This record gives sequence, structure tokens and C-alpha cells, in this order.
Amino acid sequence: MPEGVVAPYFTDPTESFVLYQGDCLKLIEALGENQFDLIFADPPYFLSNGGVTCKNGKMVSVNKGKWDKSKGAVENHKFNLQWLEACQKALTPNGTIFVSGTHHTIYSIGFAMQQLGFKILNNITWFKPNPPPNLSCRYFTHTTETILWAAKSTKSKHHFNYKDMKAENGGKQMRSMWNFKPPRKAEKKHGKHPTQKPLPLIERIIRSASDPGQRVLDPFNGSGTTGIAALKQGRRYVGIELDPQYLDLTLSRYQELVPGVAEQDQPRTALGF
Ligand SMILES: C[S@@+](CC[C@H](N)C(=O)[O-])C[C@H]1O[C@@H](n2cnc3c(N)ncnc32)[C@H](O)[C@@H]1O
Repeated sequence: MPEGVVAPYFTDPTESFVLYQGDCLKLIEALGENQFDLIFADPPYFLSNGGVTCKNGKMVSVNKGKWDKSKGAVENHKFNLQWLEACQKALTPNGTIFVSGTHHTIYSIGFAMQQLGFKILNNITWFKPNPPPNLSCRYFTHTTETILWAAKSTKSKHHFNYKDMKAENGGKQMRSMWNFKPPRKAEKKHGKHPTQKPLPLIERIIRSASDPGQRVLDPFNGSGTTGIAALKQGRRYVGIELDPQYLDLTLSRYQELVPGVAEQDQPRTALGF
């Protein structure tokens, strides 16, 4: 672990919930090789370029933040290659990665995985049952996101909790089409993140491909959904996030589950890169 190399923004006393502030392109490598059994990544969509969308029946800007601005297809793909390569090294030999995205990014991510020699295991479709309407009426209503699941390499003996997934699906094999509503109000009570994922979705991912006590990384922590899901499922978590305000939001969510620990007057180390 990078102790002494990079100071965490927050760590609990047992190092089961650790947050780093900074650019994952630099930080994943600093965490060391063969460290994580499971990675969930929800990278920038690269769609915040002045468009509009519909929220609660109103037309609103689609812009999510500076981090989500497109630099063009070639640069966006270079970015995806870089962080995926770092994640590949950080995975244990039989570890796997789940990456979520829309059509804006998922093809680049799939191609980058192929270029890097990951083994793509499944293309999971997350079906959202109540999508906002398409305001332009010139497209089908967007109602899905894709989650690519891949093993570190073609030689990996990847971990899959087949029986648990079957039991979770009422005794029938779990399919690659998952139906989850957007995050409930209660999941947003500590503050909002523009692309927060629903907890039950990430909890299923974690249950499907890791065991209690194993280590989970999210290089695009956001509001910390993966960390909270990992905590609830008894896994150990490391999250990386550029924006300290989202790390503070993560800590408020953490505090609700583990009162006392994050309230301590700890200095927070914002690395500023
Ligand atoms: C799509 S959001 C993740 C949302 C998260 N899954 C959740 O449920 O809240 C991506 C996040 O990655 C952060 N980010 C963008 N580029 C980054 C980078 N290079 N290193 C670390 N974090 C980054 C953004 O600030 C944003 O919060």
C-alpha cells in the first residue's frame, strides 16, 4: 500500500475504508500491483458539452462538471486506455473489473479492454424502468446503461458467485439484463452527485464477483456509492476522487453507517492534482 508515498484523505482505523483525493491516473499506480479483487469504475461520460436533458419534467443543462467535458474521441480513448491499464495492473491475477457507461464511452472502453488483453466476460445491460422522456422527440428514449465485466487477462480464473446470483434470481440463472431504479431519495439525503449510481446495483456487482474481506477499488469514487456498497457487503474499500467535496459527501454517507469514526477531527489531505 502507498503509505508514506501518498497520504489518504481519510482512513478508518482498520484500513477497511480508505479515500484518496487526486487524479486516478497517478494514484492507481501508487497503490501497487495485484492489490484488488474487484474494481468498479464509473468513468466520465464525456457528454457535458452544452446539451440539454429532461429532469423532473423540466429542461436542464446536461453539463455535469469540468471532469465530464469531451476532449475529442482520440484523447478520450487515450484517457480510457491509461486508467484501464493502471487498473489491470492493480487487479489480482483472478480479479475482475466492472465498468459502467453509455454509448458516449462504452465502445472506447470495450476497445481499450481488447487492446490491453482483458478478457471481456459479460455485457450487462442496466435497464432503468422510469427514464426521463426524450425532449427532442428525434431519438428513442434512452433507458439503459451498459456495464462491461472483464477479467484481468485471458489466463484469469475469474471469481463468480454463481450460486448466490442464482439464489438472488429466485433459483434461475441470473441474466445479463438487470432492472434497477435510479437512487432513492434516502440515498441522496447527504447531498447530490450528478451521476450517482443506485446502491442495490453496486451491491449486486460486489456480491457477484468478490467474497467478504476482499478488496474493492473505485477509481472514480464520486459520492462513494461503491464504498458504501462494499461496507454493507463486508468488503474492504479504496476510493479515488478528484473533487474533495465529493469525498466529504462520501464521508457523510459513511458516517451514517459507522457513526463516530469520520467525525473525529482528522486533517484531510487534499493533494491538489
Ligand atoms: C461518473 S462519476 C462517478 C459517480 C459514482 N459512481 C457515484 O455513484 O457517485 C465520475 C467521478 O469521477 C471523478 N473524476 C473524474 N476524473 C477523475 C480522475 N482523473 N481521477 C479521479 N476522479 C475523477 C469526478 O469528479 C466524478 O465525481
